[in-house]
Amino acid sequence: MTLNGTLHLHPAHRVGPVRRRTFGSFVEHMARCVYTGIYEPDHPSADEHGLRTDVLELTRALGVSSVRYPGGNFVSGYRWEDGVGPVGRRPRRPDLAWHSTETNAFGLDEFMIWARKAGVEPMYAVNLGTRGVQEALDVLEYANAPVGTALADQRAANGHPDPHGIRMWCLGNEMDGPWQIGHRPAAEYGQLAAETARAMRRAHPDLELVACGSSHSSMPTFPAWEQAVLEAGYEAFDMVSAHVYYREEEGDQASYLASADDMDAYIVDVAATCDHVRALGGHDKRIMISFDEWNVTTNGHGDPGTEPSGEDWPVAPRFAESTYTAQDAVVVGSLLISLLRHTDRVASASQAQLVNVLGPIRTSPDGPAWRQTIFHPFALTSRHAAGQVLRTQVDSPTYENPRFGRSKVLDSVVTWDEEAGQLVVFAVSRSRTEPLALSVPLAGFGPLEVTEAVMLHEDDPYTVNTAEDPDRVVPRPLEGVHLAADDAGTDGPATLTATLPPISWAMIRLHTAS
Ligand code: AHR
Repeated sequence: MTLNGTLHLHPAHRVGPVRRRTFGSFVEHMARCVYTGIYEPDHPSADEHGLRTDVLELTRALGVSSVRYPGGNFVSGYRWEDGVGPVGRRPRRPDLAWHSTETNAFGLDEFMIWARKAGVEPMYAVNLGTRGVQEALDVLEYANAPVGTALADQRAANGHPDPHGIRMWCLGNEMDGPWQIGHRPAAEYGQLAAETARAMRRAHPDLELVACGSSHSSMPTFPAWEQAVLEAGYEAFDMVSAHVYYREEEGDQASYLASADDMDAYIVDVAATCDHVRALGGHDKRIMISFDEWNVTTNGHGDPGTEPSGEDWPVAPRFAESTYTAQDAVVVGSLLISLLRHTDRVASASQAQLVNVLGPIRTSPDGPAWRQTIFHPFALTSRHAAGQVLRTQVDSPTYENPRFGRSKVLDSVVTWDEEAGQLVVFAVSRSRTEPLALSVPLAGFGPLEVTEAVMLHEDDPYTVNTAEDPDRVVPRPLEGVHLAADDAGTDGPATLTATLPPISWAMIRLHTAS
């Protein structure tokens, strides 16, 4: 049996612009993300700064727009000044977040060099766990002030006379979480974050500042946490963060495939909370969402390594290395659909993390770097989503699953770049057995032609990429895509049709016909 799904859309019905910052990533001093991930001075591909050029190349190919740094849980015990100046004089420190030893060979200046080479916008998190307003002002002065004051001069002496010009700043990390170093009640954190934000703005009024929201939507303090934090300093903040990681729980593939339903609901609830505080306080501006940690993690495919414990405090230990399946790529594609669908509230997002730690890029120390399965939907969405996100009505059969009750089989978002004459349909089929016939009436767009149709699908949804077989799962042509023959190439409305195989992600690009 074939299932049927239809997308209803019109070029005039828009959610908002596709934002480049939706395609951000995250580099934390955690496990092998920095050391032997982006930075490995002895690697054959390393440049004069010790940066792995193979990883730089893959980062550019991934289409990453911005990168959050240096944590994560790590930042809540971090002293940024340990990581600047002559490398030989930098202290080794225990990293209490990840039970590791931090050598500090890589720090803010190295990150900025890396960011420039990767072509990404930096997003910097300050430590509001063990530190406060002064540390935030210090790192801001070091990073952004013109020469002429002590810390800016120190930056210049370290080889960086020009300010780094970091615009997006996170005010701590996951401060709602009892696991966080310096965790504190919402009102207390809100006040600290607001005072920090106000002080930072005295130096640089145009910063974009992100207050910590909840670590995930099932936190017992969600969304009271957001409400209390925003009430403590609504005007001081521009964004509030959201974090989430999904995985397939034993025996529940059906719910995992519908993870984007949870992301949708989470975004709606955070936005509603922001607007509630806005109304209560009579504020004008709207707080946007920085979804600055999101991803999937694997359950049982490959060996992710073990987090150190006890007497063992290694440098760059191997853990949290998810080996991703074809199915994970489909879910990542659907999470990107959700982020785009909410482009009116999600102003920035960071997939966590970039390399090795849950990364779309995997490296071997001293060896190759390769694309994991989840690399592909990210790269294609980042490259081709452009213009406006269209308000899309998805008519779809539903299926039962333990977590959400019923979910749509078809999930989709469509972007329309009027200037370039490009319409892009991103679609996911969550059906596990039957093919899904997709139909998209295209009234209002003028004559279009299909220029590319690709999909991610494997008959075995647990197929993975490995160092030995890095291109086992790649985008393949989506066959059988049609524009209704009698209308294509004329001014009359055409209907796009395609058939999505079970558990698949697809991208169909159309251009204005010449
Ligand atoms: O990305 C890994 C960790 O997950 C981050 O350090 C933390 O913020 C989150 O809990």
